[in-house]
Amino acid sequence: MTAITRANQCKVESVMETNSPKRKLRSSSVQRQQSPVSTPVNWKSPRRCLNSSPKSPPESDGKAVNGGFSNSLTSPIRCLLKDLIVKPDWNPKDTEHVKTAKEALHISTAPTTIMCREDEQNKIFNFCKASVEQEKAGSLYVCGCPGTGKSLSMEKVKDQLAAWAAQSGLQLPDILSINCTSLANTSDIFTKIMGETQPKKKRNGSLTPLQHLRRLYSQKAESSCMKMKLIIADELDYLITKDKAVLHDLFMLTTFPFSRCILIGIANAIDLADRFLPRLQALNCKPQVVTYRAYSKEQILKILQQRLTGLPFVVFHSQALELCARKVAAVSGDMRKALCVCRNAIELLEAEIKASSKEQNHDDACDTPAPPELVKRSESQIVRLDHMAVALSKTFKSPAVETIQSLPQHQQIILCSVVKLVRGGKKDTTIGELNKSYMDICKSTLIPPVGSLELSNMFTVLNDQGLLKLGQSRDNKMRRVLLKVDEADVTFALQGIRFFRNCLAVN
Ligand SMILES: Nc1ncnc2c1ncn2[C@@H]1O[C@H](COP(=O)(O)OP(=O)(O)OP(=O)(O)O)[C@@H](O)[C@H]1O
Ligand SMILES: [Mg+2]
Repeated sequence: MTAITRANQCKVESVMETNSPKRKLRSSSVQRQQSPVSTPVNWKSPRRCLNSSPKSPPESDGKAVNGGFSNSLTSPIRCLLKDLIVKPDWNPKDTEHVKTAKEALHISTAPTTIMCREDEQNKIFNFCKASVEQEKAGSLYVCGCPGTGKSLSMEKVKDQLAAWAAQSGLQLPDILSINCTSLANTSDIFTKIMGETQPKKKRNGSLTPLQHLRRLYSQKAESSCMKMKLIIADELDYLITKDKAVLHDLFMLTTFPFSRCILIGIANAIDLADRFLPRLQALNCKPQVVTYRAYSKEQILKILQQRLTGLPFVVFHSQALELCARKVAAVSGDMRKALCVCRNAIELLEAEIKASSKEQNHDDACDTPAPPELVKRSESQIVRLDHMAVALSKTFKSPAVETIQSLPQHQQIILCSVVKLVRGGKKDTTIGELNKSYMDICKSTLIPPVGSLELSNMFTVLNDQGLLKLGQSRDNKMRRVLLKVDEADVTFALQGIRFFRNCLAVN
């Protein structure tokens, strides 16, 4: 039984951004700002340090980049040490720290370089470059699931093109970026293209903008003096659902003999070119396709780390980031979601700290010592696995997670034991090992274990529910036990329960 499948990955809606629906998020990406926190801090490399004089002045603001570490690390050895210094934990009570961390994780904060999308970005850039160099019309279709970096890459490609045109002395094409969801009528897209192509007063009033464009791109005399035009049509899905003819006409513009259009269409549908543009295929003008695959766990982790590396402090426990990456990759591979979940996990820590300081104040007033658990928790100031698990469960409630959360405690202990035993790539375990692990957890948590018959019945129940699979063997202890749900589902279903936090921690 696996409740989480990639098949529906495009459908998952963002729960966390309820105040700003996806379309809003998308439009916000258009006005993406370069935030200072998005730029990874340029830590001095050992080589640069070795070349610098021991007397060279200290960096201007060591506190800002180094979380309050001494600024006197100027000798080569010290510089090497500086690179190895572990960052201090942040202070979640410091509003500036919290603001900086949240900004670094905000979707509108664009990274200086886009990691994990180098190939896709190069393909788009090379397509644009070739079209401009050869003054050749053509189309490219960029597709992939939500939050996979399509729009983000386009912004970078535009910058790349501008830099390349300036360097090579070639004329940059006119760039027209259109978010199709902002069109009142789908055919307005031609008005937009036309509006920028030819001044209104010159137009023949009886022709529609589309007819105008067709005529323009059919006549050498009229089009040859025009600049190339790069049209970036984002959220093209909107045209597919509203008016397939418009979509078709749009792509057809690139096939006219004197067309000056370089069209890049961006959408989620993977098979648009095959489903909706058969005539283009017949004309041998099928757009080139660049597919953005859902981010893997490793990629999500890398991107999150890239965003956090510029911060002068540590905000997340590494296990918390890993859990986020694993879960988001398993469900959708949507970076937008990963960022939202991380920001929400920060908010959970903030809320916890507020609540515990309230309790502390109350206890001070009553003159009773704070409970040891509270003291211990307030020492740990970074976002932990349990914060992340709760933030994740708010976003992705899967049937498996709900089932696990509603199990009786001893069955949850059994699942927790299995996760601990199969962690690190082990395929399965045995009833014998599971019995021992169950007993160990009960002992360490001072929970009286159930008897062996009852335990055996519980294994059967979990097997029947499809959470475990029990193998056959004459020797009961040697029966194989397989976990039949995603390990991440068990981890975050149980991490929200305080009892399991320590049980699931990786030793
Ligand atoms: N490689 C990356 N590095 C850093 N941040 C990323 C990366 N990919 C995506 N993001 C973040 O995720 C957000 C969503 O990405 P983007 O808007 O490019 O998705 P999209 O593929 O266009 O999704 P949609 O199909 O929903 O429009 C970006 O604004 C950015 O903050
Ligand atoms: Mg987009």
